[in-house]
Amino acid sequence: MKLPFLCSFFLLISASHAVHAQPPIPRPPDWKDSEGHFINAHGAGFLLHKGVYYLFGEIKKGATWLVPGQSWEDYRVPAGGISCYSSRDLVHWKKEGVALSPLTGDPTHDLDTGRVIERPKVIYNGKTGKFVMWMHVDAKDYSYSRSGVAVSDRPEGPYRYLHSVRPNGNMSRDMTLFKDEDGKAYLVYSSEDNNTMQVCLLSDDYLSPTTTYSRILIDRRREGPALFKAEGKYWLITSDCTGWSPNAATYAVADHPLGPWKEYGNPCTGLGADTTFGTQSTFVLPLPGKKDTFIFMADRWNKLDLERSAYLWLPLTLVDGKPTITGP
Ligand code: GAL
Repeated sequence: MKLPFLCSFFLLISASHAVHAQPPIPRPPDWKDSEGHFINAHGAGFLLHKGVYYLFGEIKKGATWLVPGQSWEDYRVPAGGISCYSSRDLVHWKKEGVALSPLTGDPTHDLDTGRVIERPKVIYNGKTGKFVMWMHVDAKDYSYSRSGVAVSDRPEGPYRYLHSVRPNGNMSRDMTLFKDEDGKAYLVYSSEDNNTMQVCLLSDDYLSPTTTYSRILIDRRREGPALFKAEGKYWLITSDCTGWSPNAATYAVADHPLGPWKEYGNPCTGLGADTTFGTQSTFVLPLPGKKDTFIFMADRWNKLDLERSAYLWLPLTLVDGKPTITGP
């Protein structure tokens, strides 16, 4: 039986409540694919293509370890590549497999399991007919700070890795992609040692940055960008910069993806709002036919056992021109 999207969403939330009576954080902690395996797709991005949702995320598998000699809690698991799942109703998810495979034995390669592959996002290019994936690739101490690009003829992959870039020579860590209604696409990323974000217009084929970019949220140290469009404006949810530990989100609004952006306070309300309910933003998913309601998607990192990190989905609504994410 097919349920309307929102109805399914709330059923999912209730089911999660029933199974995990405490803590009362709506999330799919027991989120499993159609074969009964836990969904392994962290820092996720979503693509809706021809009525099918594709979920892409970081595969986190194996023992968590602490990179020695860092001034911060640099907990890592092997970079497992990027997974893909598909769904028609956001409830039942089929595992499509590994969309982008990592490799072993070449520590200099961007996709080596000893390095960092995070926050994959995929958009479709109508002109080239290609699916384009961007992701954050890094060295295990995060000094490499680049965005990687991969391409495929099919949404689920496999994706062919092309190259990595520092857009216009600038560092690029936590990132997202945004494709506008006019077909232009933008890369949004934490830059300048995480102090300032940047938004860069991509080339028409979405494979490279252009020289058109802007600096936004200057000196605000924001991460975990999730950009969506509503009511003719652009909205950007970000987290603070505290590694795997949760913190308070903020939202910003602009009339154009390149800005200027004006940052406001925390869109979360209710108990736990000051830590985004124990999570960090990764994506805001529009629901077809629901003009002012979105799904806010976030990661509930388990820094000591990253493979066991969970997910949080909450409805995001625009209330009096303000995005509002209501906690449980
Ligand atoms: C977070 C970032 C994650 C991951 C982590 C590493 O701030 O959002 O994607 O990079 O740091 O500590």
